[in-house]
Amino acid sequence: MPRAITDLTWPVTTERLSIRPAEQRDAAPTYAFRSLPEVARWLTNHPQDPAAWEDGYAERQTDTLIVEKDGVVIGDLYLSIQDPWSQAEVREQAARTLVEIGYVFDPAYAGQGFATEAVREELRICFEDLGVRRVIAQCFADNDASWRLMERLGMRREQHTKQDSLHRDGQWLDGMMYALLRDEWLSAR
Ligand SMILES: CC(C)(COP(=O)(O)OP(=O)(O)OC[C@H]1O[C@@H](n2cnc3c(N)ncnc32)[C@H](O)[C@@H]1OP(=O)(O)O)[C@@H](O)C(=O)NCCC(=O)NCCS
Repeated sequence: MPRAITDLTWPVTTERLSIRPAEQRDAAPTYAFRSLPEVARWLTNHPQDPAAWEDGYAERQTDTLIVEKDGVVIGDLYLSIQDPWSQAEVREQAARTLVEIGYVFDPAYAGQGFATEAVREELRICFEDLGVRRVIAQCFADNDASWRLMERLGMRREQHTKQDSLHRDGQWLDGMMYALLRDEWLSAR
């Protein structure tokens, strides 16, 4: 059975970055970039009240990793261990073998490969440290930066859905889902 995020040793470091579970003190720096319209455009929520974000942050922390560069919070990662669909008899065997990931970075740090570096490490954490068998990520099809990142990391486009997601601007948009299996990740290393 894969372990939980809290069972791992933190921080995890990459060449330029440090990654650790989110804490309450991360509410303010994450609000600073998540409240920007160009960032929130692609996300489920557009926080516009720092106090409300601060109050709700405890709930978000469970599935959130913080990415720091030289001690500055430059982004956050979503890492949600989930149960994939399975038939009833094998439900226990399937439990907690799937992770859904996500990533949100401060645009001030865009275009330098920081998100790619952090998500590459997140994939390693999922497959090597947590031992899950499949990682998925979803985005609006119009979010080129997001699906380009997934392709850069060798993830496979498995779904391109047609106008299935309602954007807050009132339009029904296409969606995409990418995935990678542990065996594929191992053989690509
Ligand atoms: C999705 C998101 C994290 C991608 O950010 P990004 O800056 O494109 O990604 P990276 O930091 O990995 O940088 C990659 C870019 O830097 C370039 N780059 C420079 N040095 C690099 C390096 N060492 N390694 C990889 N890429 C590098 C790449 O060529 C790429 O540029 P390109 O897109 O013009 O080809 C960012 O757009 C974001 O936070 N958006 C808002 C929130 C969001 O949409 N999240 C996803 C929801 S599904």
